[in-house]
Amino acid sequence: MDPLPKLSPRPACLEDLVSVLKIEGLSHPLPWSRAGFEKELTIAWSRFLVLTDDETDSRIFGYIVYWIQTEGVSLLNITVAPEWRGMGLSRMLMQLMIQETIREDIPRILLEVRASNQTAISLYESCGFKKTHERKNFYADGESAWVMESRTEGIETPIQ
Ligand SMILES: CC(C)(COP(=O)(O)OP(=O)(O)OC[C@H]1O[C@@H](n2cnc3c(N)ncnc32)[C@H](O)[C@@H]1OP(=O)(O)O)[C@@H](O)C(=O)NCCC(=O)NCCS
Repeated sequence: MDPLPKLSPRPACLEDLVSVLKIEGLSHPLPWSRAGFEKELTIAWSRFLVLTDDETDSRIFGYIVYWIQTEGVSLLNITVAPEWRGMGLSRMLMQLMIQETIREDIPRILLEVRASNQTAISLYESCGFKKTHERKNFYADGESAWVMESRTEGIETPIQ
């Protein structure tokens, strides 16, 4: 496999959606539609960031979608391209969300994750999230979700 190039985050744009949808389809049992991603580009409180290589700024390695609201940030989607997993890219994306949450003085981040998605649960736990409760039948295919929360009050430096 090619070595990991130098990457930077930036806000997503319409031209990114072909690559994003390809990664999304390979990564989720019920992938988001193009219309779903397009909508996030229009919502003022939505952050849709992509990680691209510095050289071309067009290869997409991963992306994150979260909503910034004063009562709490909601993580909606975090995905890394299959061939680039296990290299710390999702941690990099989580840091961007956590740093913005702290900067905006928002007290907590909430997320839902499939109860069977042990990889994502490990990621979230390693970033300081704790399970608060379970939502039965949360996903369209009947799977339950874990609701997880991270409280950011008192954190002065981003979680490593
Ligand atoms: C979950 C996902 C985003 C992790 O991305 P990644 O870039 O491979 O993760 P990282 O390399 O940044 O690893 C960060 C942490 O995640 C956890 N993790 C990553 N891969 C793991 C694996 N195969 N098994 C268990 N835990 C794993 C670990 O806690 C890891 O920390 P560590 O390296 O210190 O052990 C990625 O697997 C993915 O895109 N999955 C499909 C989409 C998805 O399920 N998204 C989450 C729900 S929206």
